[in-house]
Amino acid sequence: MLNFVFHNPVKIVFGKGTISQVGELAPTKGRIMMTYGGGSIKRNGVYDQVKEALKGRDVVEFEGIEANPLYETCMKAVKLCQKEKVDFILAVGGGSVIDGSKFIAAAVPYQGKDTWDILRAGAGDEGAEVKSAIPLGTVLTLPATGTEMNANSVVSRKSTMEKRYFSSPFVYPQFSILDPETTFTLPEKQTANGIVDAFVHVVEQYLTVDVNSPLQDRQAEAVFLTLIEEAPKALANPRDYDARANIMWSATCALNGLIGCGVQQDWATHMIGHELTAVYGLDHAQTLAVVLPPLLRRQKKAKLDKLVKMGERIFGICAADKDAAAEKTIVAIEAFFNSVGVPTTLSAYNIKSSEAAAVVYRRLKSLNSVFGEHADITPEAVRDILSA
Ligand code: NZQ
Ligand code: ZN
Repeated sequence: MLNFVFHNPVKIVFGKGTISQVGELAPTKGRIMMTYGGGSIKRNGVYDQVKEALKGRDVVEFEGIEANPLYETCMKAVKLCQKEKVDFILAVGGGSVIDGSKFIAAAVPYQGKDTWDILRAGAGDEGAEVKSAIPLGTVLTLPATGTEMNANSVVSRKSTMEKRYFSSPFVYPQFSILDPETTFTLPEKQTANGIVDAFVHVVEQYLTVDVNSPLQDRQAEAVFLTLIEEAPKALANPRDYDARANIMWSATCALNGLIGCGVQQDWATHMIGHELTAVYGLDHAQTLAVVLPPLLRRQKKAKLDKLVKMGERIFGICAADKDAAAEKTIVAIEAFFNSVGVPTTLSAYNIKSSEAAAVVYRRLKSLNSVFGEHADITPEAVRDILSA
């Protein structure tokens, strides 16, 4: 096992009816800025529940943080925050609202010249150091990203067609409320996206090198198996509370740092996927389902032992030959994505793979990006993966 430090300060309040606690969880003094997206929370009653819980408090609202949150939108909120002297941000929504709010929280007190510098991390670059942030809390309505219990934020810039991230301990939410009932209204596509995203978060931390970490492996396998078991239940019956709850907690556990302790991590699928979203506007999970299978095929040798282990333990695959077992595992992963309705080819989105490969290659080449646990996924490798 590799050395590690694990520290996660996020208080999770999980279950039915828990939004009513937001008034006690948020600071009682000072001005709160409530951030949200395009209106789903107004249609499903979450907005009313939050407003009721914050009755009598000093609240300003910022509406309209879009999916794949835009830097341009977030900067409007930064201005509002500064003008209104906001003391606390309450993000209510999916990963995009929460990520956008984390960026806003860090950007408000940022002293550097160019706020975009915070987000330069990603394809090849290091972001500027975040030294403080406005404290924030969240009410999660879409299980997928794990952002409710991690220190990451992913933001896109429309003017330059870039999708970048930053990570800072200052943007860990102070608390996150996870009420599975809020997810009853998710469109089928978003439910499936969330399941695929969480699944691939586990893949990025599990399908790497076997470093003799049996506890983390089994924790990761627990998340895989729970997602596979619960996905068809939530898709068949969107109001199945238990399935929704199990998926919600699985998605949080997929990216709150625990399963990643002491193991090698990959994240190449995510980095390549971010490029596809930046260029073609595909949903985050759609890009992952397209990139992961050919990436695993290309990296099969380097990931062989873990692919075989995943095949045995998750999909019940046994084959005399390791290579055949690994291929069967990849086919089973593809079948799982397709079973929840997330396609695994670019052609499903009317995108020519040769064209996407050339475009993404040029973008990554200009940044000298190299990805993967062995730092061997070069722009040339990405071109091969996307054209496969
Ligand atoms: O904007 P509203 O009206 O709220 O609608 C949203 C949005 O259109 C809707 N929605 C959310 N909750 C709902 C709901 N509709 C009905 N009922 C509900 N309960 O769903 C749509 C998608 O929401 P979004 O927040 O974009 O989805 P998700 O949670 O999948 O977030 C995706 C973003 O997170 C980033 C992605 O790159 C992408 O930008 N990620 C963040 C990570 C992190 N911070 O650690 C890690 C991930 O790998 C990922 O990169
Ligand atoms: Zn993801």
